[in-house]
Amino acid sequence: MKIVVIGGTGLIGSKLVNKLREHGHEAVAAAPNTGVNTLTGEGLPEVLKGASVVVDVSNSPSWEDSAVLKFFETSTRNLLHSEATAGINHPVALSVVGTDRLAESGYFRAKIAQEKLIKESSIPYTIVQATQFFEFLKGLADISMVGDKVHLPPVLFQPMSADDVATGVGRIAVEPPVNGTVEIGGPEQFRVDELVRRRLVSLKDSREVIPDPNARYSGAKLSEKTLVPGNNARLGETRFETWLTQPAAQIPKAA
Ligand SMILES: NC(=O)c1ccc[n+]([C@@H]2O[C@H](COP(=O)([O-])OP(=O)(O)OC[C@H]3O[C@@H](n4cnc5c(N)ncnc54)[C@H](OP(=O)(O)O)[C@@H]3O)[C@@H](O)[C@H]2O)c1
Repeated sequence: MKIVVIGGTGLIGSKLVNKLREHGHEAVAAAPNTGVNTLTGEGLPEVLKGASVVVDVSNSPSWEDSAVLKFFETSTRNLLHSEATAGINHPVALSVVGTDRLAESGYFRAKIAQEKLIKESSIPYTIVQATQFFEFLKGLADISMVGDKVHLPPVLFQPMSADDVATGVGRIAVEPPVNGTVEIGGPEQFRVDELVRRRLVSLKDSREVIPDPNARYSGAKLSEKTLVPGNNARLGETRFETWLTQPAAQIPKAA
């Protein structure tokens, strides 16, 4: 089966392309540096030719409120239009667990807009909402600085490895569309401040992490379970301590 991965050169996308190829699919990485730009539409008709499934794991280069909203609205509109023209029978998009509860955040308003466009389109789809990636924990510290300290709310979350995200998305991509949302998450729950502290220690990063109930996540106030997936979530296998021993943990992803 031909499967086009929009954002196929990124953290999740590159892992997904490899996994789909290992399973015998013709996976094509689509991104600006492979000649496909969802913002302008460049290269989309050509790359979608003969494809059955399109998986969108792209991300905006800028997380500034208006830039990220423009990115997800414009690219999703272009993609849906090209998918309808090309006869794609299963668009899949990667979003974030709790997106609909995070509308105070400019980034998440953009993800809400992306999800809404997909839900309103005429093609049966699957939205995959994943929890935070272990690879993003340092980035989470970087966007949560108050002075020289990291301020994070001591609420629950259930993060997962990027490798497990790619595995989960890959499985869903080759299943029939559910016309709805599937949640994927990690095997363990932690407090956000506690796990970011452990991640910084593992990187020998001396920044202090302050548990601060009023601290915001990407601009949004969190309650105890805002970031936690529901009971039907499909869970990845990789535990945090195991991931720390893997090569992926040696390269922190920038914010
Ligand atoms: N961070 C988390 O914890 C988390 C949790 C759950 C879900 N997510 C979601 O996961 C998704 C992927 O995240 P990621 O960290 O894998 O992203 P990433 O590593 O930043 O990769 C983004 C990809 O999008 C591509 N891209 C950028 N502009 C594009 C355009 N105009 N047209 C086509 N492709 C374009 C990039 O291509 P170039 O490299 O050529 O620029 C790159 O391949 C995001 O949608 C995010 O919301 C993230």
